[in-house]
Amino acid sequence: MLKNIFVCKNCDAQFPKWQGQCNQCGKWGTVSQETAEELTTPKKQHQEALDQVKAQKPARFSNIKLNQQERFPTSFPEFDRVLGGGLVPGSLVLLGGDPGIGKSTLVAQLAGALQKEVLYVSGEESASQIKMRLDRLKIAQAKLQFLGEEHTEVICKTILAVKPGVVIIDSIQTVASSAVPSEPGSVNQIKASTVRFLEIAKTTDIPIILIGHVTKEGELGGPKSLEHIVDTVLYLEGDRQHQFRLLRGVKNRFGATNEVGVFTMTATGLKEVSNPSAVFLSNRSEVSGSVITTVIEGSRIFLVEAQALVSKTSFGFPQRKCSGFDANRLNLLLAVLAKRAQVSLDQFDVYINVVGGVAFKDPALDVAVCLALISALQNKPLPKNTIAWGEVGLGGELREVAREADRQKEAKRFGLQNIISPKNTKSLTKTLF
Ligand code: TYD
Ligand code: MG
Repeated sequence: MLKNIFVCKNCDAQFPKWQGQCNQCGKWGTVSQETAEELTTPKKQHQEALDQVKAQKPARFSNIKLNQQERFPTSFPEFDRVLGGGLVPGSLVLLGGDPGIGKSTLVAQLAGALQKEVLYVSGEESASQIKMRLDRLKIAQAKLQFLGEEHTEVICKTILAVKPGVVIIDSIQTVASSAVPSEPGSVNQIKASTVRFLEIAKTTDIPIILIGHVTKEGELGGPKSLEHIVDTVLYLEGDRQHQFRLLRGVKNRFGATNEVGVFTMTATGLKEVSNPSAVFLSNRSEVSGSVITTVIEGSRIFLVEAQALVSKTSFGFPQRKCSGFDANRLNLLLAVLAKRAQVSLDQFDVYINVVGGVAFKDPALDVAVCLALISALQNKPLPKNTIAWGEVGLGGELREVAREADRQKEAKRFGLQNIISPKNTKSLTKTLF
């Protein structure tokens, strides 16, 4: 039996009545009406269901033969790297990212690189809009077919009829199944459609790439609620005002996760950066408050610049602003600096910028941010050729981070001899000047 329930799009909490604010996650305006199958199976029906089935014989793992997943390279090396070598037949890949970050551009370039017939389904843009983009990106179009469709069942039937090599669906928020009464973009709809596409991918062995938009908080019909259904989840990250993009693998049933691909957005599409080490360092000036550090994401190593600016608070509460760095982490580091290194910034506004607009997650940035703060406060640049990395603990101690030797090597490769790292510096107090 169907019944109406109200579901929060952000956290999936369910309520019997509509409410403006979700009690669970505290978000406003995220609760909307959905329908759900009533889960009341009486005892008798349960017994009948039991009677209808027979026990199965499980297989012993030692007797199971591996059928090697034959992945095929996409001829788009950075994409292959994140996928773990290429696309696996019959896999369902979710590509998420903020609106306007470059997802459609990335899949258009992927479609051009693939040595296969591609079916490009779009419920978002018209054929001519996409053709304009393909022309701009100089992509050969003979192998690409377009379907402007929002109806999940029509898309499935078309895939079965056309049997393309790869399917791209842009985006999951715009497609809707007629079997589900909710509006397009709702959690129920995108889940139902994703399950449909998963069935099609598995039965036909055709890989399907779904695009999903996320908002800043990863909410609203978010790809987050699809992560457990699909085989592979990739996120395209970056800041629209900056040129750098990271393609991050966060889930992969067929290979390693946490691998990243690095791109720059240019007038002619996304360009792969095969040797990203120093691209984030261009235009650097050696002023106070600037520190170079190493960041490791997946197997990639980068040199990036952490910048700090401090200025006396003239009115009210001191400001704390971050770009490319976690604001909570900054507050923690400020507390550690005050307590363990006697560097108090209570009376100062603090701005942190990790250049490039990409939110790196490596804890090695900690020490660079602390040093940038001290350098900015003292208005004194760091000694020439200095580089610093390490996680900062609550006791002000420097903690080791992954792949110390690789970081040392990379620093030396760029002539940065004066290294501050957990190898030679044990605590924040003795670190500087
Ligand atoms: P798009 O791929 O449409 O983003 P998404 O599908 O994630 O919403 O494009 C993102 C932005 O990239 C758009 O504002 C224009 C810009 N862009 C370029 O800078 N160069 C290009 O070659 C293309 C195609 C787009
Ligand atoms: Mg798009």
